[in-house]
Amino acid sequence: MTGNVPATALKTAVIGMGSIGNTHAKCHQADDLSHLVAVCDVVKDKAEKAAETFGVKAYTSLGELLKREDVDIVDVTTSGYENGSWHYEPVMEALAAGKDVLCEKPLSNDIGETREMVRFAAARKLRLGCNLNHYFTPTAERARQYMSDGRIGEVISILFRMGFQGGEATYGFNPSPRFNRPYAHLKAFLTHPLSVMRYFCGEVTHVQAFLSRTGYRKNKGDLLLSVNSVHLLFENGTIGYLMSHRGEAAWGLGGWWSCEVAGSRGTFCIENCIEKLTYWPALDPQKKYNLGEAPPPEIYDTGIKSFNETFPRRIHAFLEDKSRGVSPDNIRASGRDALATLEVIDAVIQSYENGGALMRPHPLPPLHGDPLSEKI
Ligand SMILES: NC(=O)c1ccc[n+]([C@@H]2O[C@H](COP(=O)([O-])OP(=O)(O)OC[C@H]3O[C@@H](n4cnc5c(N)ncnc54)[C@H](O)[C@@H]3O)[C@@H](O)[C@H]2O)c1
Repeated sequence: MTGNVPATALKTAVIGMGSIGNTHAKCHQADDLSHLVAVCDVVKDKAEKAAETFGVKAYTSLGELLKREDVDIVDVTTSGYENGSWHYEPVMEALAAGKDVLCEKPLSNDIGETREMVRFAAARKLRLGCNLNHYFTPTAERARQYMSDGRIGEVISILFRMGFQGGEATYGFNPSPRFNRPYAHLKAFLTHPLSVMRYFCGEVTHVQAFLSRTGYRKNKGDLLLSVNSVHLLFENGTIGYLMSHRGEAAWGLGGWWSCEVAGSRGTFCIENCIEKLTYWPALDPQKKYNLGEAPPPEIYDTGIKSFNETFPRRIHAFLEDKSRGVSPDNIRASGRDALATLEVIDAVIQSYENGGALMRPHPLPPLHGDPLSEKI
């Protein structure tokens, strides 16, 4: 929030001032519920540049920041190997200091660390949120409304196609361990489609996966398994399929991100994440159709093309949950929700390493405390 800051605004600090940290800081400044007070980056120049841009204090150590600033929320936007290895330490440090934390995805590139982060936050009854921004959209909201209004009926299948546009001509070798590791695309990116699939269909019980990479990646010595084909079964019986690339090919219908949920009473498809939602009702039993004919669809075109619009919406939801005192178990896009996606990703890796075997994701921690450790 700039200018006059409402007394109720939550004091916030952003940690890790790369491009995403700057995006988050901008969102906090534009939001009435937030009062950005400090930024932090281990690289002094980055911290100082961001501090100047946002007119707040700069720190190069989170420990120092927490000693000097009375913040309500620590927003962690660091990166690291497989785009998540530098989340663990600042998140744990902020939680240990009793702060509510919003963390970029993936919560960590290490499944053991992720479980520990979620357990640590739950034990301290602190809010740990994750930036699962892809379903904080008017398209996903309206799609969920179709579901709760009974206009989808029993969900039969979910089909997700997602990844970066590209092809051989646009390929550039990235030697950084941020990407040049076999599972970096899975860990850094699949959190998004899997979080959206879970938002619509609930928990995944079975996983089978095939992973590959293009010839031009192999020729460069690029390790990234960038083509991911994942077959899923959900607890509610829905069958799911996810195809993801990282710049391997041009995408066809639906752009870089399309998700179709087919049900017994209707089907919807979201295209370009935030841009467009189409709903097709099931056939009207009173009418006759020839093969290829169907009732006309309802089209909701938001006119929004920029994916960046998802950031302020998701960050606002976290601020709102904290301002309203929503319990850590019930906040939107919690650390536990992010862990659920990483458990599926871990099962994908296990399946691939076992020649496409069927795997079951590791169970999630209970939502309302551990009955074995809680005193009644
Ligand atoms: N949700 C989304 O849509 C989305 C999109 C892109 C990236 N991301 C995620 O955002 C995160 C950041 O991405 P980026 O491209 O801005 O990364 P980046 O590498 O450009 O920036 C990260 C910054 O964190 C700093 N840093 C690292 N460890 C630190 C620590 N302990 N304390 C303070 N500063 C520290 C680094 O110096 C760097 O400036 C990644 O985890 C990435 O996966 C999310």
